[in-house]
Amino acid sequence: MAKKILVTGGTGFIGSHTVVELYNAGYTPIIVDNLSNSSIKILDQIEKIIGYRPEFHNFDLCDDVKTKNFIAQHSDIGGIIHFAAYKAVGESVEKPLDYYKNNFFSLINLLDAYKGKPVNFVFSSSCTVYGQPEILPVSEAAQVQKAESPYGNTKQVAEEILSETAQASKNYNIIALRYFNPVGAHHTALIGELPIGVPQNLVPFITQTAIGKREKVTVFGNTYNTPDGSCIRDYIHVVDLAKAHVAAIKRMESELSASNYEVFNIGTGTGSSVLEVIAAFEKSTGVKLNYAIGDKRAGDIEQIWGDATKSSEVLGWTAELGLETMMQSAWEWEKYLKNGGF
Ligand code: WQD
Repeated sequence: MAKKILVTGGTGFIGSHTVVELYNAGYTPIIVDNLSNSSIKILDQIEKIIGYRPEFHNFDLCDDVKTKNFIAQHSDIGGIIHFAAYKAVGESVEKPLDYYKNNFFSLINLLDAYKGKPVNFVFSSSCTVYGQPEILPVSEAAQVQKAESPYGNTKQVAEEILSETAQASKNYNIIALRYFNPVGAHHTALIGELPIGVPQNLVPFITQTAIGKREKVTVFGNTYNTPDGSCIRDYIHVVDLAKAHVAAIKRMESELSASNYEVFNIGTGTGSSVLEVIAAFEKSTGVKLNYAIGDKRAGDIEQIWGDATKSSEVLGWTAELGLETMMQSAWEWEKYLKNGGF
């Protein structure tokens, strides 16, 4: 029987793509999600892609009794990928306690439910832990910087919780993946990002502008110390990112981990500026984007991209899809949404 992998937050943007890639790799994904930032309809979409409807459980992992009971009743779970968390930087500044409660309680409850039992655990971390790195590309060995927001702090402290938990007990086999900027959508355009309200992130803002939902994209500054003056990020296709989770599960299953707590950068190793992203969008879709240069956004990191050496040499995972494929797939998804496909 195919090994069951629990995907928390499995109806979300990265979670849903990971459910698909797990299934494609021969696993049986099982989802827990409280639908706080996703839709149950994603299950139909996943089923359209893989021809299988994953087992789904709607509850909040912040409920320790429910979480314990669920884990006790599912002793056949062979690994966990924990996505379920709040993730909006700005909102976390307004509601820090909501972020600390939600992101920590769920993580701690899950880990606690495995006390005394072995578990392979993949955690969604973020390049946000690096702040503005002094050396680029930034490697996993770089010093973690003080978090700029409660959201970022939840990722940093979660990494500490995981590392200390792993140190205290060999039952825990943990990999934290530090994502750079996940964008794009599945090539079928049946799943993708579903931002609530006005998107804060660049790529959904671009696609919503191109489709006519927003008037124009503002490029947040063009006087940074970068070749074209706009900020640089390491954009990674969500399908590549999803595959990194499968690689992490396989690494732990094959007992290849060098220690029971490991950290990997998950990026392409290449930085792209905001203006390059816009150019890639226009080139790959043939759609002209209405954009203008505006003020810098407070708190923005000037430039960051990841060193992908460890993930490629140790984890055995490398990003395959380029910026134009990211933009084109994000655009197909936006058109699918407009046409009422979802
Ligand atoms: C990308 C670039 C903006 C919108 C996010 C999270 C962070 C981490 C990484 C998860 C920046 C520019 C954006 C717009 C623009 N993720 N931009 N006009 O800032 O890298 O951060 O991803 O942990 O926590 O917040 O991503 O998509 O917001 O911005 O010019 O309308 O696009 O200045 O350079 P960012 P983003």
